[in-house]
Amino acid sequence: MILLLIASGTPSATSADAKGRSTSGCVAREREALLSFKESFLDPTGRLSSWRGRDCCRWQGVRCDNSTGHVVGINLRNTAEYRRSAELMLSTGELSSSITGLRYLRYLDLSYNDFNRTSIPMFFGALNNLRYLNLSCANFEGRIPPHIGNLSKLRYLDVSGDDTGSLSVSHFSWLRRLSVLIHLDVSRVFVRSARNWISQVNMLPNLKVLRLSDCGLNTTVSTLSPSNLTHLEVLDLSGNSFGTSLQHNWFWDLTSLRELRLAGCDWPAGPIPDALGNMSSLEVIDLSANHQLFGYIPANLEKLCNLQVLNLDWVNINGDLTTLMERLPRCSWNALREVYLLRANLSGEPPDWIGNLTSLSLLDLYQNMLVGPVPAGIGALGNLAYLDFGLSNLNGVLSTEHFASLMNLEYLDLSHNSLKLDLNGNWVPPFRLDTGYFRSCNLGPQFPTWLRWQAGITRLDISNASISDVLPDWFWTVSSHASVLYLSRNELSGAFPAQLDLPSVELMDLSKNSLSGKLPANLTAPLLSQLHLSSNDIEGTIPSYVCQLNHLSELDLSSNQLTGDLPRCPENIAWSPDFTYCVQFGCYLSILDLKNNRLSGQFPDFLQNASWLSFLDLSHNVFSGSLPTWIDEKMPSLEVLVLRSNMFSGHLPRQFTNLSSLHYLDVAHNNISEKIPSSLGRLKAMTGEPEGSKTNYSDDSIMTVTKDQERQYTLDFTNPIVLIDLSCNIITGHIPEELSLLGGLQTLNLSGNQLDGTIVDGIGASRKLESLDLSYNSLAGEIPSGLSDLTFLSWLNLSYNGLSGRIPSGRQLQTLNDPYIYVGNHGLCGLPLPNNCSNGANPSAHEEHEGAPNDTTYLFLGISMGYVVGLWTVFCILLFSRTWRAAWFRLFDQLCDKSYVQVAVAKAAMARCFRDEAL
Ligand SMILES: *[C@@H]1O[C@H](CO)[C@@H](O)[C@H](O)[C@H]1NC(C)=O
Ligand SMILES: *[C@@H]1O[C@H](CO)[C@@H](O)[C@H](O)[C@H]1NC(C)=O
Ligand SMILES: *[C@@H]1O[C@H](CO)[C@@H](O)[C@H](O)[C@H]1NC(C)=O
Ligand SMILES: *[C@@H]1O[C@H](CO)[C@@H](O)[C@H](O)[C@H]1NC(C)=O
Ligand SMILES: *[C@@H]1O[C@H](CO)[C@@H](O)[C@H](O)[C@H]1NC(C)=O
Ligand SMILES: *[C@@H]1O[C@H](CO)[C@@H](O)[C@H](O)[C@H]1NC(C)=O
Ligand SMILES: *[C@@H]1O[C@H](CO)[C@@H](O)[C@H](O)[C@H]1NC(C)=O
Repeated sequence: MILLLIASGTPSATSADAKGRSTSGCVAREREALLSFKESFLDPTGRLSSWRGRDCCRWQGVRCDNSTGHVVGINLRNTAEYRRSAELMLSTGELSSSITGLRYLRYLDLSYNDFNRTSIPMFFGALNNLRYLNLSCANFEGRIPPHIGNLSKLRYLDVSGDDTGSLSVSHFSWLRRLSVLIHLDVSRVFVRSARNWISQVNMLPNLKVLRLSDCGLNTTVSTLSPSNLTHLEVLDLSGNSFGTSLQHNWFWDLTSLRELRLAGCDWPAGPIPDALGNMSSLEVIDLSANHQLFGYIPANLEKLCNLQVLNLDWVNINGDLTTLMERLPRCSWNALREVYLLRANLSGEPPDWIGNLTSLSLLDLYQNMLVGPVPAGIGALGNLAYLDFGLSNLNGVLSTEHFASLMNLEYLDLSHNSLKLDLNGNWVPPFRLDTGYFRSCNLGPQFPTWLRWQAGITRLDISNASISDVLPDWFWTVSSHASVLYLSRNELSGAFPAQLDLPSVELMDLSKNSLSGKLPANLTAPLLSQLHLSSNDIEGTIPSYVCQLNHLSELDLSSNQLTGDLPRCPENIAWSPDFTYCVQFGCYLSILDLKNNRLSGQFPDFLQNASWLSFLDLSHNVFSGSLPTWIDEKMPSLEVLVLRSNMFSGHLPRQFTNLSSLHYLDVAHNNISEKIPSSLGRLKAMTGEPEGSKTNYSDDSIMTVTKDQERQYTLDFTNPIVLIDLSCNIITGHIPEELSLLGGLQTLNLSGNQLDGTIVDGIGASRKLESLDLSYNSLAGEIPSGLSDLTFLSWLNLSYNGLSGRIPSGRQLQTLNDPYIYVGNHGLCGLPLPNNCSNGANPSAHEEHEGAPNDTTYLFLGISMGYVVGLWTVFCILLFSRTWRAAWFRLFDQLCDKSYVQVAVAKAAMARCFRDEAL
């Protein structure tokens, strides 16, 4: 009632009453107090601009008593949608205590303004006529002064914080003086000494609403009798970690409760108590995010006829959906509005009579193990706005009947099931979706024409949806408000229109289709942050508008037919006028993948802006020129660098070795010359010492996206691939000893170069080494015995060098007994080679790598049986023919590429991480 009395923004009603008492304006003393209060604020949008002139009762947000003329209410609530925006008023420091001059003030609302982390002034305790005080989310800091306890007439108190709330309260004993309090909200205020909080709250017999979520409470007393809180209607204790039994708790006696929120309270393992059945007034039950609670809702809920909202997200129900739903009170079927059962471990088939819950507006069953078809009964739910069946095991066909009356549907998720949508070509849906997720459903083979009617859609996922059709031009019109578009893994063909306007799009994924033609000549997509077009047949050059896409963080154009040089984007960083963000292409780039095209030119200079770049793949193109020496300075975040199969020349700059996050370096198949920089041993991310987590990338994970826009690979993996591949260049000199410092190295490939010297013994120090290839070099000397200690080593190739001496026998080398490993080193002896070392000195002949097979090889052929023969045929061909040798290397390439994609992770299972974390 106070709320009604003091509604703001109606100054005309305040100025005068029938008796004309306050036509001359407000009491002068109070006007002065208000003016001085006004001085406490910065008011950039002029919300207090009406605070001038004599009649303060006409000022915006000020409310006077119409008979006495005294100021009784101040409502300065910031109602702007975004708190820190337009309507914000900022405190200039200390709030003026002049407000205590308003002796008749009953109502004060300063919520959602910004008091710049000052403390709540103690003088609020002097406003002793106050009935309503709202300081919610106002960026106050420090302790709540116990002086608030002097406000003995207070009926509403809201000091709840926002997520960054930093208010605390020492204890609650000051509450006892607020005996007429009806509404108390101290959510997200840290309660320092919480031991007796319940008995202190129990002093407030008039309380109807009690919100204590996220207060750091850790105790609930199990019983409290007799309880004073007989009027309590709303109790919210969510986000406190009680860790004590849910079963025996004082609140189960509060049978007047309408709303009970106990989400995320860390209740220990146990069922949902039967006591719930006595709370016949309940409208809202929230037990979500209590993973340890298990079992169905109790069977005795038949009295809960008012139930409107049931939230059991993340409760381990571990049973059948129908059984659960049968326990919903029948008398509430027409009342139930929202049912949340995300990740609730439900199985069985959804019952067809779900359509009898006529008020249902939200049904969330994401990530369960439901089977069978989606019941057609759902099509009767005319109020349904949000329907989520994503990530289950549903199958069968959905027809127009399933959607017959769903005119309010805005959110629909059917993704990751085995569902087919059979919606005929002329069907006009009754709904207009905001969000539609259909990943892995069968929507094809024709492009779904009903999408034509979804012009307001903002998020659409029809990837992997068995569509084999031309991507129609109207799709781009429909998408004109879309922010997220996933269409990958279909067989979409056709070309882009020349002009593409997607003013809202942030993410677009069309990869793994059959799109052809050129990229659009013009693209308007000022917000585009992720563009994935890999594995299509797109040809032509990369247009220069790319340089204008300054929000871009991921660009994947790999495996297309793109040609020509990259656009010459400016290299200097440019800032927005207020210097808050960068407006230059590259600034926010973290992934650039251009592999498998025919792109040419130098190493792109615009990457000098890309200080956040962590993944760069330019492999299998015809880039040339030298490698940049600015790489460490300009791209310090680089983790994965793949330049293989280009025509880069010159030396490997020493600066590469300063890239402290680099764990994947592949420069194979270029024309890199000169020595390996000895500082290579400094690559910190390869030393095997744990230093934070690295990101893991793979061909697959780049495509991997989840329904909530979060990208898979931004999750940290504990085991990134650690690789150096410099094979097939013209590198000379020794293998630097410092390589032995790279204790985390898993793959080292230096084959096909002109390295000489010996194999450094320290290579054995890299105990994680799984694959070592030094073949086709001019290495001499003995094989270091340390190699045999490499317990993970499963691939070794030392062939075609000038190695000599006895092959070390030892744990791991014993299992690598394929003679091909050592072939072409005429000085080697011992197992697995046929020549043992005992007869005479070690032969140390250093012979040519290539050439006709000599006696030794014939000896091989003679002695080794079976597979060796087959293998040897390959060697011989290799020895004779450069073409075949190239083919062999390609095979190696593939092997490497394979290891490179190996890490693709269980994607679907993690698809909801973003949402899960939000809980
Ligand atoms: C004051 O205004 C309220 C609501 O506008 C009205 O109900 C009440 O009768 C008025 N009081 C007097 C004394 O006129
Ligand atoms: C907010 O507080 C900070 C630190 O105390 C101070 O530097 C800044 O000037 C304050 N802002 C305003 C608008 O008073
Ligand atoms: C306090 O203000 C906030 C918004 O500014 C509102 O959401 C909340 O309901 C108010 N509290 C009370 C008790 O009215
Ligand atoms: C409960 O929290 C208080 C701080 O508010 C702390 O001192 C106490 O040790 C905690 N008790 C338990 C059982 O965790
Ligand atoms: C109930 O509230 C009254 C008045 O605030 C108080 O005196 C009494 O001690 C309370 N009872 C319990 C059991 O806390
Ligand atoms: C659902 O409603 C229909 C029609 O109103 C009725 O025939 C059917 O028995 C109801 N189903 C259940 C399980 O009550
Ligand atoms: C691209 O847009 C510009 C300006 O909006 C326009 O002048 C030009 O003709 C467009 N080009 C194409 C191919 O549509």
